[in-house]
Amino acid sequence: MERKTKIIAGNWKSYKSEGDVHDWFKQFAEKQKKDSFEKSHSVECILFVPFIYLSLAKHLIDHFRLPLSIGAQTVSSYPSGAYTGEVTAQMVAQYAKYVLIGHSERRKLLGEEERTLTEKVHLAKNAHLETLYCIQNEETPIPIGVRYVAYEPVWAIGSGTSDSPENANKVASVVKKAHPLQYVLYGGSVTVKNVEEFLKMDAIDGILLGKASLDPYIFLEIVQISLRT
Ligand code: 13P
Repeated sequence: MERKTKIIAGNWKSYKSEGDVHDWFKQFAEKQKKDSFEKSHSVECILFVPFIYLSLAKHLIDHFRLPLSIGAQTVSSYPSGAYTGEVTAQMVAQYAKYVLIGHSERRKLLGEEERTLTEKVHLAKNAHLETLYCIQNEETPIPIGVRYVAYEPVWAIGSGTSDSPENANKVASVVKKAHPLQYVLYGGSVTVKNVEEFLKMDAIDGILLGKASLDPYIFLEIVQISLRT
């Protein structure tokens, strides 16, 4: 039986200058060539970049012919119109295939609530963006139409203490039973050291990296591990 594609995604959050973005892709391209890592059907890599780098990331991915998909880290809950400062799903869809919605940092720091998040998912779908929806535990409501979920317990994000692979697997199984999901990823303090244990779990279909995605060498090392797992 053919193996299901695993997803290795990176969330850059609000890090990096334009120069850093150039360096990241250049270093990724050089290392990837050296390691002769080609586009693989068994792993899909996604980078969630700040809005302002969507166009540049697309340009550099095309230029270096990299096996990476692009995602935005959020999207407006408004359609196109008189909404000063907002970046709509339709704008994002010119550059990206994915969008992250419901990250706990936005829920907590920007006060994003279920109604707003559901509206974002709806607008993303209309713009043909695939939503990766973040849940904080198995009780977090998941809007209808979502097919990709990332389980990220708040206490594990950036803390250096991940959830146990067994518990993450349990949460992934529970949400898969309750919703028609295609992919459930785990995120929160995943590193080169512990990634394999998560990828071995049968209900976990991939990883959402924060810190570990900021360095192209670490990101690629994690991709290599996932290709072997
Ligand atoms: P860390 O991998 O830095 O813990 O961040 C996880 C995260 O929030 C990804 O969205």
